Amino acid sequence: MTTPFLQAEKLERRVGDTQILAGIDLSVNKGEVVGLIGPSGSGKSSLLRAIAGLDPLTGGRVLVEGRTPTPGDGTIGMVFQQFNLWPHLTAGENVALALRLVRKMPRAEATERARAMLDRVGLLKLADRRPAQLSGGQQQRVAIARTLAMEPRLILFDEPTASLDPELTTEVLDVIRGLAETGMTMLVVSHEMGFVASVASRAAFLDHGRVLVDGPAKAVFRDAEEPRLRRFLSTYLQRVAWAPDPEPVPAADPGPLATFALLQQPAAPEGSTMSLLGLPPAAPPGGFSLLDSMGDPAAPKSPKADG
Ligand SMILES: Nc1ncnc2c1ncn2[C@@H]1O[C@H](COP(=O)(O)OP(=O)(O)O)[C@@H](O)[C@H]1O
Ligand SMILES: [Mg+2]
Repeated sequence: MTTPFLQAEKLERRVGDTQILAGIDLSVNKGEVVGLIGPSGSGKSSLLRAIAGLDPLTGGRVLVEGRTPTPGDGTIGMVFQQFNLWPHLTAGENVALALRLVRKMPRAEATERARAMLDRVGLLKLADRRPAQLSGGQQQRVAIARTLAMEPRLILFDEPTASLDPELTTEVLDVIRGLAETGMTMLVVSHEMGFVASVASRAAFLDHGRVLVDGPAKAVFRDAEEPRLRRFLSTYLQRVAWAPDPEPVPAADPGPLATFALLQQPAAPEGSTMSLLGLPPAAPPGGFSLLDSMGDPAAPKSPKADG
């Protein structure tokens, strides 16, 4: 048996009387995408921060390929809800900055790497714009490019679309989907349940600083036996009920998953991030349902783009 890429063992974090992480075990294999879901305050951000070495633990340990990672060594990258871009720097300069300051890369090389990373997220043409001249979705893509520039082997996303208007979330989710397809190992905290269910191979449900459910995403969303997970998912179903023009729910209701089919993602438009990444569109025309995307893992995820 090979060692998992990431092993979080009995992670505990207590601040004063507050038990923030109450003994979390989580292991992630190379190339795996794990979705972390759970109510607000359940410890999702704290778990990511603990894995990234940003917060001290009061117990347990984090191993990457069997070793304790050195915080800041670039092994683990993190993308936050806030983009944290420097307002006075262009997109390209924002991406290049850490390369120059942390990696001590010469300016010309850093600039070139930054442009390549912006190209990966479909923003090469906007490399000279400042954050204020970019949409929220574009700013988050710059933040992702900045993370990619450091060549992390694990990326942690903490609600990367939570501060975006709904119409801007797709372009960011498409970039993350594209990374998943290149085999990047990722932990993704997101309330975009449809996205988690379709991109993550595994999903873990957190509650009160514990992992209550951890399993194949399909099973977690479809079976949802755990009462607190059921309750959590049902709050999303109620929200989805307000979505305009939902697709009809299949008659044979296999559980909450069917209703998540309503969380349709629009088809990737031509020239979208996906095509800029050189990847087939995320969804066939007319969108996809979770049931389609989660049916048979061996089945092709989406039709090959006509090339
Ligand atoms: N530095 C801290 N000091 C005290 N309590 C904290 C601290 N950081 C987080 N918490 C508490 O820990 C719990 C988990 O927080 P968080 O990880 O942000 O949850 P989530 O990301 O799932 O919403 C919350 O109750 C939060 O108030
Ligand atoms: Mg959080």
